[in-house]
Amino acid sequence: MRPLTDNPISDFGDDAFRFEPYVDVLHGAVEQAMPLPLTVGVFGSWGTGKSSFLRLWQRRLEDRKVRTIWFNPWKYDRKVEVWAALLHTILAEMEGEEGLKEKALRLAKAATWLSVRTGLGTAASAATGGMIKSGDVDSLLTTLSQGDAEQYRQINRFENDFRDAVREFVGADGRLVVFVDDLDRCTPDSAMTVLESLKLFLGESQCVFVLALDLDVLAAVATNKFGDAFKDAPAEVVSGLAYLDKIVQLPFFLPDVGFDTLREAFTPYVHQPIDDDAFWELLRRGLGANPRRLKRFVNVFNMAMEVSIAQAGGASLDRAFHLQLAVLQMIRSRHRAFFHVLAAEPRSWDTLAGYFRQVQDDPAERPRLLSGLPSELHLFGADRALERLLTQRGSLRVPPPTPQTVRAMITTLRATAGPDGLGSADD
Ligand SMILES: Nc1ncnc2c1ncn2[C@@H]1O[C@H](COP(=O)(O)OP(=O)(O)OP(=O)(O)O)[C@@H](O)[C@H]1O
Ligand SMILES: [Mg+2]
Repeated sequence: MRPLTDNPISDFGDDAFRFEPYVDVLHGAVEQAMPLPLTVGVFGSWGTGKSSFLRLWQRRLEDRKVRTIWFNPWKYDRKVEVWAALLHTILAEMEGEEGLKEKALRLAKAATWLSVRTGLGTAASAATGGMIKSGDVDSLLTTLSQGDAEQYRQINRFENDFRDAVREFVGADGRLVVFVDDLDRCTPDSAMTVLESLKLFLGESQCVFVLALDLDVLAAVATNKFGDAFKDAPAEVVSGLAYLDKIVQLPFFLPDVGFDTLREAFTPYVHQPIDDDAFWELLRRGLGANPRRLKRFVNVFNMAMEVSIAQAGGASLDRAFHLQLAVLQMIRSRHRAFFHVLAAEPRSWDTLAGYFRQVQDDPAERPRLLSGLPSELHLFGADRALERLLTQRGSLRVPPPTPQTVRAMITTLRATAGPDGLGSADD
């Protein structure tokens, strides 16, 4: 069984979520946009396809011979390094251009010098991975301290020269599209310096900046930065958007990918025979339409199935087993406390499911039924999500597994998804 890989896609041929029309719309909107620079925000939650969207857009631009740069700020996850690294990444790209090498190198030196002068230290140059090596910094400082550097005392001057270099690089009507991915993986400080350096150093250049952003994370960043100023304001005022409004001129929210689309995309990867409504309904209710979460679930599920089949001496396992395993895996990732109870007492599955069914048949009896539950199950007596998971009806019904099966499955899941405490294997 091929595992589903979790890398961003970068090819329209792999675009199972049908992002392409959106890429085209956004592309059209910025193709002619004036004035520059322009900052586009591509918003989406964790694992919903931001990087993939950016990659597809980059592909589109390259097809049309528009220059692009990809920048991963989290590689330089220190406030000091990250803005200088952004400049150096852009300059390193220009350096490859005949006729621009000199200018790019001069600007790179100036950027390094600026970072040193502003007291940000030499780490900036060491981390830029490019034009100025850390060993060069000292000599650079001596040779630059009076001469060239003098003209960059003013950040304005740097900004102008940078603007000219970009114009030469892309042509009078051209634009340089800079993709900044994973800004939210930086520390809040670093993320802020990237955003601010866009304004500070690149405020006049023919650039389009495309930022991929997780709004929830960004709200935390903005709150961190402006927490004091807003400390008496209601929470919604201190939202990521309030601050981003100043930086992002064109916000774009990744389209929701429907669960059915995801089901269609991932079905070929799920251990067969499972194009089963009960299985997918379980995933839809338990995990929602998050591509990454679903992929991880499917990968663990497939492995656990393989192991189970090997343990059964190669015999195929029936539909009930497939579904029971999926339910147990869901319990493990979404209802951990109950998973621990099950590990100690596998019959709890049956007991709790029976209780929920009785409550559904006669809600008025709940208090009496609850008091009849073993004490370790009281905690779950009002857990609606767990109730839905254990009491699917009709064609979606999953028969409770025997205690032996529960035991064997728990061992298998621990082997394939990691110890219970680790937690991140399927979420
Ligand atoms: N258009 C698409 N077609 C098929 N699969 C996709 C598509 N877009 C994203 N995916 C898949 O969805 C998952 C998440 O995608 P991606 O890494 O791009 O999300 P992200 O929003 O950048 O995540 P993060 O929040 O971690 O940065 C990946 O496994 C990726 O391969
Ligand atoms: Mg990403």
